[in-house]
Amino acid sequence: MTKNIALWEKAKREGRKMTMITAYDYPFARMADAAGLDSILVGDSLGMMVAGDADTMRVSLDQMEYHTRIVAKGVAKALLMADLPFGSFEEGPAQAFAAAARLIKAGADIVKLEGGAPMVETVAYLSARAIPVCAHIGLTPQHVRQFGGFKRQGKTPEAAARLRVDALALQDAGARMVLMEAIPPELAVEITQSLAVPTIGIGAGPGTDAQVLVLHDVLGLNLDRAPGFARQYVNGAALMPAALAQYAGDVRDKRFPE
Ligand code: KIV
Repeated sequence: MTKNIALWEKAKREGRKMTMITAYDYPFARMADAAGLDSILVGDSLGMMVAGDADTMRVSLDQMEYHTRIVAKGVAKALLMADLPFGSFEEGPAQAFAAAARLIKAGADIVKLEGGAPMVETVAYLSARAIPVCAHIGLTPQHVRQFGGFKRQGKTPEAAARLRVDALALQDAGARMVLMEAIPPELAVEITQSLAVPTIGIGAGPGTDAQVLVLHDVLGLNLDRAPGFARQYVNGAALMPAALAQYAGDVRDKRFPE
């Protein structure tokens, strides 16, 4: 049972790697849970993977609440994390609390929000009000317009120093986990070692306490370009059209129904 966040902290102390994958609906959530993933993330990447958008900016809180609810139905053991989408939390702690409460009521065990130092007050506010928070730093996709695209972060000494300081400040504010995306592996190791709370990495090398990948990248269902750091374990985009074409062929050639 990995729903308990304290078990993640224990795993970090014992040097055991934890696993996370995104899911956006009931069948995939059920399969990921049954496969033994420690955590399932209802990521706002659903804007790209499910809705076909170029980035995550158009995902609404209503959509996140809906997807969290249907994913929760398929999850028995894994820790369920849900993203606060762009525009639902940045105005301040009270707005963030209202949004996070909706995701918790939909079934999330913990919410994730993007941003470093400017989010410290919000993380403290949520943490003091019964809402566990994971802070997402580095390449935060909701800032792509500021970054000028999906670009690796923390590459200069100044940027790396800022990320180190932000991670500690977010932990001190009460963040129970810190997710680091697309930062140099050595920096991810340094931050992981400096924190008592577990770190989750994506495109941040092997040195974080846990790893997360996007479901569609792992299953070969990302029909656009998957990031270079992802690993595809099955070519779903080849297998599934073949099955669909076989079905259509069976109908046309009168092999189905019998
Ligand atoms: O939305 C998402 O899927 C994420 C992962 C990339 C970590 O935030």
